[in-house]
Amino acid sequence: MEFQAKKLFAKHDVPVTEGIVAQTPEEARAAAEKLGVVVVKAQVKAGGRGKAGGVKLAKTPDEAFEHASNILGMTIKDLTVHRVLIAPAASIEEEYYFSFLLDRANRSYLCIASVEGGVEIEEVAKTNPDAVKQIAIDPGTGVDEAKAREIVAEAGFPEVLTDQAVQTVLGLWKTFVEEDATLVEVNPLARLAGDKLEALDGKVSLDENAEFRHEDHAEFEDKEAADPLEAKAKAMGLNYVKLDGEVGIIGNGAGLVMSTLDVVAYAGEKHGGVKPANFLDIGGGASATVMANGLDVILNDPQVKSVFVNVFGGITSCDAVADGIVGALDILGDEATKPLVVRLDGNNVEEGRRILGEKNHPLVTLVETMDGAADKAAELANA
Ligand SMILES: Nc1ncnc2c1ncn2[C@@H]1O[C@H](COP(=O)(O)OP(=O)(O)OP(=O)(O)O)[C@@H](O)[C@H]1O
Ligand SMILES: [Mg+2]
Repeated sequence: MEFQAKKLFAKHDVPVTEGIVAQTPEEARAAAEKLGVVVVKAQVKAGGRGKAGGVKLAKTPDEAFEHASNILGMTIKDLTVHRVLIAPAASIEEEYYFSFLLDRANRSYLCIASVEGGVEIEEVAKTNPDAVKQIAIDPGTGVDEAKAREIVAEAGFPEVLTDQAVQTVLGLWKTFVEEDATLVEVNPLARLAGDKLEALDGKVSLDENAEFRHEDHAEFEDKEAADPLEAKAKAMGLNYVKLDGEVGIIGNGAGLVMSTLDVVAYAGEKHGGVKPANFLDIGGGASATVMANGLDVILNDPQVKSVFVNVFGGITSCDAVADGIVGALDILGDEATKPLVVRLDGNNVEEGRRILGEKNHPLVTLVETMDGAADKAAELANA
């Protein structure tokens, strides 16, 4: 969120005014009493807040109260606003766009900058793409002062701002690297009266893989917006992402699960347009407990109509997985109420299929191929 991004910016010497966070209209009024003319800004992890009516100028504390009453509780891109940032109103002369991001396609970093920033930046990128500069960053050398000067020149910042812009670019690069971010974005980076450069907005995406070296990042997690099933799965140590379809998915290995999502979406086209309900990778050791935990999360998703268990036996052999499924169904008992389509292949597949065949559980259908199983699961979800 903007107020969190600004906190990180301040830590790395990017010029910002942090403002005051308010969770009630009363707090907004009190903040405005301290700050004078302010802007009341919705704090959600999404862009386009201004266009959605989530950024309003308040000339008096009463106006701040009124705007906060309207903005708190509103929904922007499916996210409920639980807090507003009360920021001193800046006198803006020009708005620029600036970002560093991971350029996955080129296995590199990229800087995107434009002197035509502001809330219409997406429009500028479409109608006047030349105004949006893309500058590749060598991941080996990163951004030193010389590179920062090159970026500032390429972006076309006005002369009087050159030195401030270079310092700001270096600060944003420091934020990007030292916080292990995958995106650092400022829109607008504003030229204020008196030729002062300041970040009036901020978005930072942090790389969860680096969580272990950033204990202080835990406070940035948006607990209110977290999906309850995702929270439950996280507590069980499962790699689960809620999606919006009807076919629950369990697989072992992220690659296999990703392919499973694809084949289910494809099969769903023939069966009423059903789609995958989730991503769930139970990893290598598909034990009964892990399988039961996974099934527990998926079966508790009211949108799920059928479940596709797609396992390729590797180090964990298929018979162990089959035991896991049988054990999981025993653990869940009456809670297991939705049809399960199981496809097993790989190490010790015959034994795995024999175990499931012998158990002959009324909810379980064994299908030999991945495409066949996806088709069956989609058909059952649409039944
Ligand atoms: N502190 C401020 N003082 C004056 N104007 C401001 C201030 N903060 C924001 N604005 C104005 O409101 C606009 C929208 O605010 P901001 O960029 O923070 O939110 P946003 O709409 O979510 O941005 P984006 O579309 O980039 O995601 C800015 O472009 C700027 O013109
Ligand atoms: Mg913005």
